[in-house]
Amino acid sequence: MGNKINLAVFISGNGTNLQAIIDSIKAGRVEAELKMVISDKKNAYGLVRAEKAGIENIFIDPADFNSRQGYEKELLDYLDKKNIDLVALAGFMRLLSPYFINQFSGKIMNIHPSLLPSFPGLHAQRQALEYGVKVSGCTVHFVDEGMDTGPIILQAPVPVYSDDTEERLASRIREKEHELYPEAIQLFAENRLTIQGRKVYINQP
Ligand code: GRF
Repeated sequence: MGNKINLAVFISGNGTNLQAIIDSIKAGRVEAELKMVISDKKNAYGLVRAEKAGIENIFIDPADFNSRQGYEKELLDYLDKKNIDLVALAGFMRLLSPYFINQFSGKIMNIHPSLLPSFPGLHAQRQALEYGVKVSGCTVHFVDEGMDTGPIILQAPVPVYSDDTEERLASRIREKEHELYPEAIQLFAENRLTIQGRKVYINQP
């Protein structure tokens, strides 16, 4: 076990994954210090969750910047100030540009509610239902310049039932997400993830 990593979480909404990360850190299952939570939405409930947990939480309004790079530079400045080792996107509804990604390469994770490369983008659960798959799930991956295309770290399957609604499937997947994301962050904290091309190797402890 090494030193704790400095973690930042970016959100746009409810923040149930953020909550799972906060709880896992508290329980000692994830060796990280959650230094800050950043939202691009003022009313994101995840900001309240962070506040309740005593974690610095910041709303940065993209509309205050006249370019995407200007906004992302502000994000990078915050990350720099806290020596952030890993950024976890948790329902952050914004595509980061190469400018940001190149400066944090291999240090940005995302969680997506499908078994990628199936059903990237918005409404992954609805896409799965409409396609008629019997199994969906969730994926934690490193972020590259595409939409949900980066190297896959962990995946977990979830059954799809014939009478599922989008909401029921989403909540079944969400429960899995709450286990999978902390697990992936802990692997990173233990320095056990090696990216080679498209592949992520998980090294033995
Ligand atoms: C999750 O389903 C995640 O996979 C997707 O956005 C949703 C965020 O949910 N990227 P929450 O805000 O963590 O509850």
